[in-house]
Amino acid sequence: MYYIGIDLGTSAVKLLLMDEKGTICKIVSREYPLSFPHPGWSEQNPEDWYEKTLDGLKELTADIDRSQVRGMSFGGQMHGLVMLDKDDQVIRPAILWNDGRSQRQVEYLNETIGRDVISGYTGNIAFAGFTAPKILWVRDNEPENFEKTARIMLPKDYLAYRLSGAFVTDYSDASGMLLLDVKHKRWSEEMCGLCGISDAQLPRLCESWEKVGTLKKEIADALGLPGDVIIAAGAGDNAAAAVGTGTVGPDRCTLSLGTSGTIFISSDTFRVDPNNALHSFAHADGKFHLMGCMLSAASCNKWWMDSILKTQDYGREQEEIHNLGKNHVYFLPYLMGERSPLNDPKARATFTGITMDTTREDMTQAVLEGVAFAFRDMFEVVKSLGIHPANATICGGGAKSPLWRTIMANVLNITVQIPENEQGPGMGAAMLAMAADGVYESVEAAAEAIVTMKAEEKPDPQLAALYEKRYREFQTLYPALKPVFAGLSD
Ligand code: XUL
Repeated sequence: MYYIGIDLGTSAVKLLLMDEKGTICKIVSREYPLSFPHPGWSEQNPEDWYEKTLDGLKELTADIDRSQVRGMSFGGQMHGLVMLDKDDQVIRPAILWNDGRSQRQVEYLNETIGRDVISGYTGNIAFAGFTAPKILWVRDNEPENFEKTARIMLPKDYLAYRLSGAFVTDYSDASGMLLLDVKHKRWSEEMCGLCGISDAQLPRLCESWEKVGTLKKEIADALGLPGDVIIAAGAGDNAAAAVGTGTVGPDRCTLSLGTSGTIFISSDTFRVDPNNALHSFAHADGKFHLMGCMLSAASCNKWWMDSILKTQDYGREQEEIHNLGKNHVYFLPYLMGERSPLNDPKARATFTGITMDTTREDMTQAVLEGVAFAFRDMFEVVKSLGIHPANATICGGGAKSPLWRTIMANVLNITVQIPENEQGPGMGAAMLAMAADGVYESVEAAAEAIVTMKAEEKPDPQLAALYEKRYREFQTLYPALKPVFAGLSD
């Protein structure tokens, strides 16, 4: 029997084939474009997600007995606004999680309505990337599109809708819409009212491991798959990654070094950070989590390598870096503004401290360290809540770099565990499909049986002390530059 995990990411969809014992048999990836029509805006075409997924599914299942495929599920980029009209046509490109255009709407929600009120309704405050402020942006700026909207959904839910016809979402992903009363796991009437929508426009709420339908017959036939392939609701990519790295149960921690950078703390109970710097979301295991999200993590290194150094050989650029803890260059990683903990779409990336003897390696190192320092900013908030995880698993594309893992372990001063497989969201999604099919009695049981670690990296006390000093210096940069960023024009 086979299960498929679909990780609908920002740069590509990654499909993962798993057998019922949890062995990964194949991984296939298909890229699609991301457009930045204005500085700070970020959009994608939902049709691309669907077409690339179908194309990837063909290759993923090319060498197996397709009749053995039992189910599929999703880990999706969160918060993206997908709007369909009454004929199920996409109204405008999806506005993604790292889009900063809705600052005015965020101010309306957080300042005019009030942070406490919004947090009371949802457990969270407004951030530019969240879905509700984007709905308000469309209402304010594209009223003709707003009027046409029959269904509002998240990226992975669009895939599920196209594949199965089920108009559903799961609690973890719904949490990031700022329309869910997370504590009570129901749509917030108040938030819907503020956004001028009704819950009839929103998907049915499900647990992540719930079977929501089966693959449509015409799609199953075209792919050569059985007619009864189960579609399970799936989860936001971070919750799916947490399942795929075994971050279920109380106070476990995952660090995800993907396009975004997230720190994810699983929790048996619903908790709210009093300053709302961390998000309070539902988890894919039926419980809850706290999460901080920085908007540009591995994408900073990708930008530095691809666009500036114009190389694909990331490993080679890191080979000559031997100066850990002693770099005189700092990098602020705010290429798309910043969410956690700054909540500042106007923040921008900078290099600081460059001198005549600065080398290419120093700059590359600064990029990796700047991302780690920004993670540390989020980790400080976690610790301020009295949460002190003994260790953290690390996943995402950036976690493939041993150097970056060392920097992360020492900047955060925490033991970093490296899972057998860094494909967190895809793996978690396949595990959710298995739970939906009854292979495991719960998501926790699936994680217990399947997830293993292959290594761990402990911080080195001397290096951690050097980084402590550097982090203190890093911390002075954003407050000093904040007024400069605020005054910069687009
Ligand atoms: C989480 C977030 C990102 C996206 C990336 O709040 O915005 O991690 O989910 O796909």
